[in-house]
Amino acid sequence: GLPSAVTIYEVGPRDGLQNEKAIVPVAVKAEFVRRLLTAGLPIVEATSFVHPTWVPQLADAAELMADLGEEGRHLPVLVPNERGLDRALELGLEHIAIFGSATETFASKNLNRTFDEQFAMFEPTVARAREAGMDVRAYVSMCFGDPWEGAVPIGQVVTAGTRLLDLGASQLSLGDTIGVATAGHVTALVAAFADAGVGTDRLAMHFHDTYGQALANTYSALQSGITTFDASAGGLGGCPYAKSATGNLATEDLVWMLTGLGIDHGVDLDAVVSTSVWMAGELGRPSPSAVVRALGG
Ligand code: HMG
Ligand code: MG
Repeated sequence: GLPSAVTIYEVGPRDGLQNEKAIVPVAVKAEFVRRLLTAGLPIVEATSFVHPTWVPQLADAAELMADLGEEGRHLPVLVPNERGLDRALELGLEHIAIFGSATETFASKNLNRTFDEQFAMFEPTVARAREAGMDVRAYVSMCFGDPWEGAVPIGQVVTAGTRLLDLGASQLSLGDTIGVATAGHVTALVAAFADAGVGTDRLAMHFHDTYGQALANTYSALQSGITTFDASAGGLGGCPYAKSATGNLATEDLVWMLTGLGIDHGVDLDAVVSTSVWMAGELGRPSPSAVVRALGG
C-alpha cells in the first residue's frame, strides 16, 4: 500500500533559482522563502554556500540568511566543502546538504573533483558539521543517467550513496538530475539500496520533469515506501552544470497528486500556486507547472 503521509522538501529557492537567467534581488528571495513556509512547506532549502563565480545567482547567500534571521536558521543550505561550512557556521545555521555525484564526469563538471576526491572533500566537512551539532543531508546526482556517460549502473549509485551516508549524513536524496528516470528504474534503485541495508526511512527522491516522468516516478517511489520528496514551487529549476537539466518536479503537481491519493502533506495548494504566479512575474516567464497553469489564472 501507499504511505499515509509524506514530507515535501521544497527546493525552489535553491535548485529553482540557481538556474534562472535573472538574478533575483535578495528581498524577493526572502519573501519567496517566507511565503513557502507560510504555505505549510515543512522544509525549504534556502540557498547554497558554493563558489560565487560558479553559481552567481546565489552569491547573496549570506545576505539572504541574515535577512531571514531566526526563521532561517533551521533551513537547509547547500555546502560542498569546508569553506562553505565556515560561511554557514558564521551565520549559526543548523542544517546543511552536501551534494555528490554518482559519475566521474559530473563530479568533475560540478565539483572540480574526481569521483574519489569528492568524498575526501566531504569527509572533513561532514565531520565538522556533525561536531557543531548540524544535521547533514546528502544528495547524489545522476542516479539514473548522465548526459556525458549515458546510463548509470545501479551499483555505482549505491556505492556513491552509501559512501555519502557513511560520512554521517542522516538522509540521502537520490537525484534524477536530467529527468531521464522511468518508473521501473525507480523501483529497482530503491530495491538495490534496501539490499545494501539502506531503508526507505533514510531515502528521499529528487525528480526533474525533463521527460514528463516525474509524477509517474513519484508514484512508483511511493509504492516502494519512499516518504520524502523534493519538489520546486512552480517547477523552477535545473542545474547549471548538467547539460539538459530542466525544471524540478513542481510542488503543485506533487501536492495535487498526493491530495488525490489521500496522502497527508500539510501544504496549502492555493498558497503555493499564488506564490509561483507571483514568482513567475518576478522572473518574467510563466511557470512550467501544469497545475499552476490550471489553477493560477
Ligand atoms: P574549486 O575551484 O576546485 O575550489 O571549486 P577550490 O577548493 O580550489 O578553491 C578555490 C577558491 O574558491 C579559493 O579562493 C576558495 O576559498 C574559494 P582563493 O583562495 O583562490 O581566493 N572557495 C569558496 N568560496 C566561497 N564558498 C565556497 C568556496 N569553496 C572554495 N564554498 C567548488 C570547488 C566545490 C567550490 C566549486 O566546484 C563549486 O562551488 N561548485 C558548486 C556547483 C553547484 O553549486 N552546482 C549546483 C548544485 S548541485 C545540483 O543542483 C544537483 C542537485 O539539485 C541534485 C540533482 O538534481 O541531482 C543537488
Ligand atoms: Mg536538482
